[in-house]
This record gives sequence, structure tokens and C-alpha cells, in this order.
Amino acid sequence: MSIFEVIAKRRSCRRFTPEPVDKNDLYVMVQAARLAPQAANIQPVRYTIVHQQRFLEPMFSCTKWAGYLKDYTPPVGYRPTGYIVVLLDDSLKGKFSDADVGAAVENMLLVATEKGLGTCWLGAVDRDKIRKMLGIPEGLTIHSVVAVGHPAPDQYPVWEEKDSDSIKYYLDENGKVRVPKRRMGEVLIPITPDLSDFE
Ligand SMILES: Cc1cc2nc3c(=O)[nH]c(=O)nc-3n(C[C@H](O)[C@H](O)[C@H](O)COP(=O)(O)O)c2cc1C
Repeated sequence: MSIFEVIAKRRSCRRFTPEPVDKNDLYVMVQAARLAPQAANIQPVRYTIVHQQRFLEPMFSCTKWAGYLKDYTPPVGYRPTGYIVVLLDDSLKGKFSDADVGAAVENMLLVATEKGLGTCWLGAVDRDKIRKMLGIPEGLTIHSVVAVGHPAPDQYPVWEEKDSDSIKYYLDENGKVRVPKRRMGEVLIPITPDLSDFE
């Protein structure tokens, strides 16, 4: 797959198989994250890899899924088998930290997609509970969590051109999540005069 194909394939996956995720794949995701562009190259983002069986259910209980869908939280047997907790070093945090996290996490998601893994980036997480459970020290802010696993067959979401007013993902008649993406004509703002006006 080309990079563009990986980008187009990546969707937020909310149904996984019970097959454990290889902890080396989680490690490679972090390797990709740390090479992302970072404002002033300060690199304030930190990561914790969670793959141990005993942490999987407690981690899951700290997450919220699919706000636009009714009852689409992954049921038992379809839950993530790994997590990467995304942290910010408070002493390095600045006005572009959110952008730094965005670049780093997208790298992780793309590498995972290339490996055939499913991911869901989760902002709706119980930070206090995660901090206590994993013993995350003060001085590190819990930004978000990336859930990882092997995608359940036939349930991987697809994107489509948005053709109504709604940007909400929804379930189609086969129970597959469909994700409307704004059309090129909506996101590409024409500049006037353009270069051809000077020719
Ligand atoms: C910062 C951020 C936080 C998110 N938090 C959640 C979340 O808590 N739970 C969830 O199910 N999805 C979450 N998502 C996934 C979005 O719902 C998803 O990216 C969006 O609907 C577009 O779908 P796509 O990722 O398949 O393109 C989050 C995405 C981002 C970028």
C-alpha cells in the first residue's frame, strides 16, 4: 500500500478479534510517533504501552466509544488487546502541544494500519482512573489513548463522500460504520486572484 492508500484505509475501528496484539507492533507505533514533526522540535509527547492481559479490562473501563451511535461500545470478545497512552511532559508543554500530539498519533495510526491492525484514538477517557491504575506520575498530563487490536472481519468502517448535512458516522444496512468525509469542493477554498491571473 502507498502512504495515500494507508491514509484512505485507516478508520476508527471499534470491533476487534480476541487475538493479542504483538507488543513489538505497539513499540514500532511509538517509534513512528517520535519521528513526527514537532513545533520547535521540543518533542513534549510521551507514551506508555499497555499490552498486559491484566490491564486490558481495567483500561477498557476507562474509555467511551462512538458517541454518535447508540450502543456501539465494543462488547466482550470484541475489545482492544492493546493501548498506547499518550502523555505530555508538563515541563515542555506549549501552545503547539496539541498539534505535536496530532502529528505523532497520526503516525502511530498509519503504521498500525499498514500492519493490518485496527486503531481508535480516544479522547473520552477517565484520566484520573488511568493515572491511578498505571501509576502515571505527576508532571505528565494524560492527553488521550490509542486503542489497538486486530480488526474483526467485515466490520472495519469505510469512508464515503459526505452527501447530506451530517458529518455523523452511522451504521449501514449491513451493520458497517460509514464515515462521511467533507468533499474536496467543500474543503478546498479557492483563492482569487489565483496565479493564472498573473500570466
Ligand atoms: C482527538 C480525537 C479524540 C477522539 N475520541 C474518541 C473517543 O473518545 N471515542 C471514540 O469512539 N472515537 C473517538 N475518536 C474517533 C473519531 O470519532 C473519528 O476519528 C471520526 O469520527 C472520524 O472517523 P475516522 O477516524 O474513521 O476517519 C476521536 C478522534 C480524535 C481525533
